[in-house]
Amino acid sequence: MSVYDLTGRKALVTGGAQGLGAGMAEALARAGAAVVIGDIQEDLGKAAADALQRSGASAEFVRLDVTDDASWEQAVAQAAGYLGGLDILVNNAGVEISSLLVDLSPDDARRMLDVNVLGTALGIKHGLRAMRPGGLAGAGGAIVNISSVAATIAFPAIALYSATKSAVDRLTRVAAMESGKLGYGVRVNCVYPGLVPTEMGAQLAQDMATLGLWPSAEAAVGDVIGLTPLGRLGDVADMADAVVFLASDGARFITGAGLPVDGGMGS
Ligand SMILES: NC(=O)c1ccc[n+]([C@@H]2O[C@H](COP(=O)([O-])OP(=O)(O)OC[C@H]3O[C@@H](n4cnc5c(N)ncnc54)[C@H](O)[C@@H]3O)[C@@H](O)[C@H]2O)c1
Repeated sequence: MSVYDLTGRKALVTGGAQGLGAGMAEALARAGAAVVIGDIQEDLGKAAADALQRSGASAEFVRLDVTDDASWEQAVAQAAGYLGGLDILVNNAGVEISSLLVDLSPDDARRMLDVNVLGTALGIKHGLRAMRPGGLAGAGGAIVNISSVAATIAFPAIALYSATKSAVDRLTRVAAMESGKLGYGVRVNCVYPGLVPTEMGAQLAQDMATLGLWPSAEAAVGDVIGLTPLGRLGDVADMADAVVFLASDGARFITGAGLPVDGGMGS
């Protein structure tokens, strides 16, 4: 069996109702894992899980607001109940609200900090509790956090978002250290995706035009591609396959790492 095979593994993907998270759930299922999608969007999340089931995968949906400790408690217990355990957690849920620093809205800043930083930290908390020895799953596993190329470069109008993604990077490294030192048997890594034209990515490009930083969304995207050695935007599968790798035994000696999946843009 390939070291990248996930047959028998049990995965929870946050923010899996659409975009990158939906693609990650699909790729994990294709690699053999049973998957639970956790999201605040119930209709879309259920539809994404149903689509996976129709393709032959084992998939369920749970309502999860990543900013809420009690919601995590309930969702992890529910997911582990559906799956019969938990080995993989992908902390993918995130929000991006563009703004120049001179126009920063404290409410928007708090929302990004809440979802991207607190949401990921609570995910790590509940993932480690569930997977460590004596936890409700208890067999170790892998956590993959979704940071961003924005944590590795300076790009205008995404300062707060970039700060939250740098925080995800630091959370990852400390979590890996604690998990290793305390013998939890859980590897913790993150990926830095480049720009992908999901709802979030397309909106970001549009915001660059609205804020007057580029003449159009297309021009902004063109410049991002120009900064990317591989000469194209990322797609959902590029990110999803990297998550499968970090979740698999192929990455068994990798923890506390951040993997750029950005066509070289951040290097
Ligand atoms: N698209 C890109 O270009 C890009 C680049 C780098 C990093 N990322 C990161 O990848 C992740 C996914 O991005 P995407 O492009 O798929 O975005 P998206 O907006 O298409 O999807 C985000 C998902 O997160 C969910 N979500 C938001 N708040 C939540 C909460 N409180 N609890 C549970 N779920 C919640 C949404 O309902 C949605 O399903 C995010 O963390 C984002 O920051 C995206």
